[in-house]
Amino acid sequence: MATAKAHTNIALVKYWGKKDQDLIIPQTDSLSMTLDEFYTTTRVVFDPALTAEQITVNDQPVTGKGAERITKFLDIVRQMSGRQDFARVDSHNHVPTAAGLASSASAFAALAGAASRASGLQLSRRDLSRLARRGSGSATRSIYGGLVEWHRGHDDATSYAEPIMEKLDFGLEMLAIMINTGRKKISSRHGMQSSVITSPYYASWKEVVANDMETMKAAIQAKDIPAIGHIAEENALRMHALTLSADPGYTYFNNETLTAIQAVRQLRDQGINCYFTMDAGPNVKVIYDRRDRERIVDGLAQTFAPERLVVSPAGPGIEIWDENN
Ligand code: PMV
Repeated sequence: MATAKAHTNIALVKYWGKKDQDLIIPQTDSLSMTLDEFYTTTRVVFDPALTAEQITVNDQPVTGKGAERITKFLDIVRQMSGRQDFARVDSHNHVPTAAGLASSASAFAALAGAASRASGLQLSRRDLSRLARRGSGSATRSIYGGLVEWHRGHDDATSYAEPIMEKLDFGLEMLAIMINTGRKKISSRHGMQSSVITSPYYASWKEVVANDMETMKAAIQAKDIPAIGHIAEENALRMHALTLSADPGYTYFNNETLTAIQAVRQLRDQGINCYFTMDAGPNVKVIYDRRDRERIVDGLAQTFAPERLVVSPAGPGIEIWDENN
């Protein structure tokens, strides 16, 4: 039996499109910050007495497509370890209630950590990152804390994440504006492949990312938060341009997403350095220097109820515990 705790991450240079859908090899590199405030703990036990997989998330049984995805992932672990038994998986998402931020990144990173250890495997962090990738691309990066780069690679062996700065020694912080609690209608899995196949801008996106990876890494080395925020904001808007320009076109934004973007821009017009980013959903994350936190929270609280504003500094990498049965 083993338990793992993994934190979610938000990309500053986004991953949006796969080259290999089965192995989850991305089209581009990407770069993220692991968040302290949002994490998943998962316990796995492989048990010869079980006649089927038993899975719960937040104490609720998981069946159907969700269970299939987890079983498919556990099959990879069974294949690697030689272990044949079914598993009991109990997972808890530690995100503010109804945040709409329950991310597959922390979930599959924690599952990779707990399942591999429970099966008897002792994987290096690089190999854990490769394994987590098979569950969800963004999970690759959640093995590490701080600022993390995912090298796209060209096959299973070469596509993994690596930390750029595991413990931040400068004030970069994020704040999530909780906008929607419902499930997204278009999964990132489907959304990104429709962009790859149908957006006429996809070739330019790959150039955008190649350039942003370089400038973002330079901005991180310089601890230049306005540069980091600016590059992240432009990168997010260009990613979302791929959804608008797909056929059929769509968007993850809703009215409140646009309201939040406007609120951030207004604060910036007042001379406060803050920037926004969005993933495959309507929530907006704000990027800033922690010394400006109070002014930013106060400013956003004019538009959004304070309980919808969740501050998060950078978080740590995965932790795994062995447990006795
Ligand atoms: O790995 P997925 O399927 O959760 O896709 C992640 C896609 C984005 O969150 C939008 C970008 C990213 O790099 O995390």
